[in-house]
Amino acid sequence: MLELRAIRKAYRMGSETVVALDDVNLQIHRGQSVAFVGSSGAGKSTLLNILGCLDRPDSGSYRLNGRRIDALSENDLALVRNREIGFVFQNFQLLPRVSALHNVAQPLVYRPMKPAERFELARRALARVGLADRGHHLPTQLSGGQRQRVAIARALCGQPSILLADEPTGNLDSKTGEAILRLFDELVADGHTVLMVTHESEVADRCQRVLRLSDGRLVSEKCNGGDLHARVA
Ligand SMILES: Nc1ncnc2c1ncn2[C@@H]1O[C@H](COP(=O)(O)OP(=O)(O)O)[C@@H](O)[C@H]1O
Ligand SMILES: [Mg+2]
Repeated sequence: MLELRAIRKAYRMGSETVVALDDVNLQIHRGQSVAFVGSSGAGKSTLLNILGCLDRPDSGSYRLNGRRIDALSENDLALVRNREIGFVFQNFQLLPRVSALHNVAQPLVYRPMKPAERFELARRALARVGLADRGHHLPTQLSGGQRQRVAIARALCGQPSILLADEPTGNLDSKTGEAILRLFDELVADGHTVLMVTHESEVADRCQRVLRLSDGRLVSEKCNGGDLHARVA
């Protein structure tokens, strides 16, 4: 359902060029859970941002559900992002002045649906993450773990084909982080495709596939609960 071929991405910093991704090849099937690991600067966030249509590769192809999307216009890419991608960030990125319910419903504003329908979907997504009774709270009136649940509900609300998370437990204490990881486990059990970046091996090992990046390249893959093998690229 998701295929990267020969993906390259470089950033120019004055006269220097930083190669963030170099010849990345990858196939991920519907329903898989994948962790991207590697040291700081390895290219994890760049890869996740390209997968999430927040950024584009300089070269190479990206197919999502059979459709080539690396060459789409900004507008079309935004549409794909809105329909197909749910993104969860380390720092939650909620709108501070509106309620949890409004935050969750926000991505649906770009869809042709009536407000009542939008809020019904948002209510369902909040209930899915165990926050049915917190819809009217502002982000500041919620704990860190609750804020991340709101962010997950927002990511789920539009029924995307993939859920991406960049260090989703990075700003949470370990007990709260554990609750968020259990929620991701449930979403994978429900058939969601979940791709996450983490630097913690205990977090990565909950995923079916652990892909290691080093200097912008995919250097190894570990499959949990199955056979182990090295080298993918
Ligand atoms: N917007 C940017 N401008 C310049 N360099 C960048 C930018 N984003 C990332 N980089 C560089 O690309 C490399 C990969 O970064 P990143 O994907 O954020 O790594 P990771 O998430 O694994 O820590 C790093 O060397 C980083 O400094
Ligand atoms: Mg990063």
